[in-house]
Amino acid sequence: MAAGSEKTTSTDPTTAAIRANYSRVATTYAGQWAETLAHHGRALAERLLPDGRALRWVGEVGCGPGLVLADLERLAPDARVVGIDLTEEMLHQAPTRFDRVAADAQALPFRSGTLDAVLMPFVLFHVPDLPLALSEVRRTLAAGGSFGAVTWFEHDPHQAYQVWVEVIDEYGAPPDPAPQMPSHAVTSDPGKLEIALQTAGFGSIEITVERFHHHPTAARFLAHSQVIGAMARRIEQLPSDRRTACLAAAERELSRLEPDAFIESGTVLYVTATAT
Ligand SMILES: C[S@@+](CC[C@H](N)C(=O)[O-])C[C@H]1O[C@@H](n2cnc3c(N)ncnc32)[C@H](O)[C@@H]1O
Repeated sequence: MAAGSEKTTSTDPTTAAIRANYSRVATTYAGQWAETLAHHGRALAERLLPDGRALRWVGEVGCGPGLVLADLERLAPDARVVGIDLTEEMLHQAPTRFDRVAADAQALPFRSGTLDAVLMPFVLFHVPDLPLALSEVRRTLAAGGSFGAVTWFEHDPHQAYQVWVEVIDEYGAPPDPAPQMPSHAVTSDPGKLEIALQTAGFGSIEITVERFHHHPTAARFLAHSQVIGAMARRIEQLPSDRRTACLAAAERELSRLEPDAFIESGTVLYVTATAT
């Protein structure tokens, strides 16, 4: 069993680009975005571990800044809780009392059959080889162990984001050089996701659709959006004077919108399954 400060490396270029992106945004992610997603990680944990007293090892793969680790500790009081993430800078944001392991979901540094439960909130769509990651998770789980994930499903129209994209297009920012969701087409399709889980050796699969809601202020939307996400990666490629002008134009356009224009809403999928 790996624990403490373990580290493995990934070589495929998509995974390397995802790690580079999260290393760059780790502090902003932890300060401005993690709490919005943690609501769903916590709800998943409650659903997956209604009685976690018998559990000994619980892992969160792709734990990022680790906001859900304390909830796992509360739900499984006798378990050793391990936070696992591809990106060391994200793990540095997590509480240090937990074991933190820098590793790729596609090559987990744990012996087969050792984990009692694994959670992956907002991670599966990032993994280029989804079948490999799911079979790695299945391998590390004991038979009868629990698996849970949250993934993006549908987005409602988001007026502030549309304005943001229009301004960035107008300033001629090149396309996103490093798209981050190589498996989204599968993870956002409940039928395909279920087949992927069955193929990896999971049963008792349940997938439910839950609401997602986030309502930042205009200032917070702008602060977060110029660091995190596809549009941030686009404007970063502009020469600095054009980038400054683009951000000023975006601020001007966004300041004309009503507060409700900043509501980001839609749905996410909650997935629970058992290792067969
Ligand atoms: C959207 S964040 C989610 C973080 C946390 N689960 C949450 O809900 O706030 C995605 C996290 O997954 C990690 N990640 C991406 N690809 C991964 C992989 N192949 N293996 C392990 N972690 C990965 C990233 O480094 C990042 O911390």
